[in-house]
Amino acid sequence: MKNTPLKQRVLVLSLLITLSSCSKTDLDNEQATAKPLQQSPEQVLAKQTQAEKQLSDIDSGKDYHSYANSEDVQVRHITLDLRADFNAKKLTGSAQLTVERLNPEVKELVLDTRDLLISSITSEGQALDFELKPADENLGAALHIVLPQKSNVITVNYATSPSASGAQWLTPAQTAGKKHPFLFTQAQAIHARSFIPLQDSPLVRVTYDAVIRTPKELLAVMSASNAPDTERDGVYEFTMPQAIPSYLIALAIGDLEFQAMGERTGVYAEPSVLASAAAEFEDTESMLIATEAKYGPYSWDRYDLLILPPSFPFGGMENPRLSFITPTVIAGDKSLVALIAHELAHSWSGNTVTNATWRDLWLNEGFTTYLTYRIMEMIYGEDRYNMEAVLGYQDLQADIASLSADDQILAIDLRGRDADDVFSNIPYEKGALFLREIEQKIGRDNFDKFLLTYFNEFAFKSITTDEFITYLNKTLLVQYSEELDSDRINQWIFQAGIPEGAPVPQSDAFVNVDLARKQWLEGIVEAQKIETSAWTVHQWLYFLNNMPDALSEQQMLSLDKAFSLTASKNNEIAHSWLMMAVKNDYQIAFPRLYEYLTSIGRNKLVKPLYRELSKTPEGKAFAKRAFDAAKPGYHPLTVSANEAFVN
Ligand code: BES
Ligand code: ZN
Repeated sequence: MKNTPLKQRVLVLSLLITLSSCSKTDLDNEQATAKPLQQSPEQVLAKQTQAEKQLSDIDSGKDYHSYANSEDVQVRHITLDLRADFNAKKLTGSAQLTVERLNPEVKELVLDTRDLLISSITSEGQALDFELKPADENLGAALHIVLPQKSNVITVNYATSPSASGAQWLTPAQTAGKKHPFLFTQAQAIHARSFIPLQDSPLVRVTYDAVIRTPKELLAVMSASNAPDTERDGVYEFTMPQAIPSYLIALAIGDLEFQAMGERTGVYAEPSVLASAAAEFEDTESMLIATEAKYGPYSWDRYDLLILPPSFPFGGMENPRLSFITPTVIAGDKSLVALIAHELAHSWSGNTVTNATWRDLWLNEGFTTYLTYRIMEMIYGEDRYNMEAVLGYQDLQADIASLSADDQILAIDLRGRDADDVFSNIPYEKGALFLREIEQKIGRDNFDKFLLTYFNEFAFKSITTDEFITYLNKTLLVQYSEELDSDRINQWIFQAGIPEGAPVPQSDAFVNVDLARKQWLEGIVEAQKIETSAWTVHQWLYFLNNMPDALSEQQMLSLDKAFSLTASKNNEIAHSWLMMAVKNDYQIAFPRLYEYLTSIGRNKLVKPLYRELSKTPEGKAFAKRAFDAAKPGYHPLTVSANEAFVN
């Protein structure tokens, strides 16, 4: 806690005291009732000791994933001038950083970089001394720059590497139009440093402007002001006047066109995808209006979507003013648009109130997942809300069954680990369920009021879990002292599993699906006879996801024959069905599986398939064939996430 301000040290200590005083009660509670997912008292004790140890030496508010000396000096503004060279797969140019010295004695500026080629560093035309330290596998290489005496403006001239972890350069063949290349960046969690030398920590916020130079026929867009009617001349200018964390800096270049969806919303996509995307996501403007009505004015001017090629490794990324979206959710029936609600919701929970470190990601994703459900309910009604909440809850249960106890903690200990290790259903669904419990205890209207004030209080700030708890202690815990207590809150945040008595989402629409599955499994009803004509995509997902692991070839065949599941065009249904195909070695679906794995790079869809395939030698051999064929088109993150399954 060497460099921690006193306030934070006191906070950590008081938290420790709270936690040690709550452990006994929780231990007693856990002993009283034995639940399948709960651990023995010894395990609970071991876990708590670990949680306590964790709290005692984690420096809350310290970003363990950045080398930046941001307690002494902070970058406030970045001016980029970059040329995209599609032949060399490089961005080349300069980043001019304007810094503020918080400590007048500070002598150097330490930046994060990864695989950057630094050619020179100057200030007012004078060369500055610098040293690029050896690279760490997770964190990249620290760049130490001797600060000039007077000036606060430093220019780094550099080029990115073709294998930059935060950028994917696609050949024309990997795009929808097949004629032009494409580039996109993905900075979260710590990949901005692979295309800009900066203080790559969510604790630091910067404004930025940029000039991006591209081949004339292409259009560049950024997480900044984009003029939809800009002339296509190969030189594009951007400004982001609001201070944002580095993980939200984003750039894409391609054969892009724009179509408006509403007054403040529109979509950028390759021409052949544009109309279907605009139709699929036409409710975006209503979502924006509904969210503002509940949680306060939208802070970011416009809200546009950018549809990426299918290799985009995530479902979506909440880059401010311009969410990046996978094309795999264009299903033709708006069944997968919760993703848009999710990325939009980040405009409040995440982009305005931001996690201070990656340990605190649940503050971004848990709040956003909670908001997503609420937006979906406002736009599509309660049935949809309930169905999506049940499916999310089941994803959470699956992760609780498979993740280690330490990885089930909302405020996860990520020291010495890859920042991307935090990505699971824990920050998302466990975080959202925690908020749902508070909502149910104090009442929805009251909780909405709390959220509105919380978003205002911390707007454009980065906060830690501990700061959030302090805020809760001052607000809800005082206002609703009957309904809430801090032991319970600490249990949610610092312990594994789902606390006993947590809300369990339910959906009436799934009752008849359970019945149909049961009757079919018992041989009472044939697949063709199940009345599925009115089933929604969510009912199909629930039907498939809850099948027993082992089915006979005959059973797989009868499902496929009745419902053409191998041919499903819905990428989520196809995913669920292909998981069943792998588990049951249903070879008829394997050509489709091969096509799926080689045409989609969204990690959430492909990784579980690779993992399942890797469990048998034949499956692994098949996975390797698909992976080798797909690898040139996969994003670096998808490659690294799946490589281990095929080797
Ligand atoms: N910000 C995340 C994506 C992310 C998280 C990237 C952590 C890197 C590290 C984005 O908002 C997200 O949550 N995407 C989900 C959407 C889903 C939960 C609706 C995804 O991509 O699957
Ligand atoms: Zn998210």
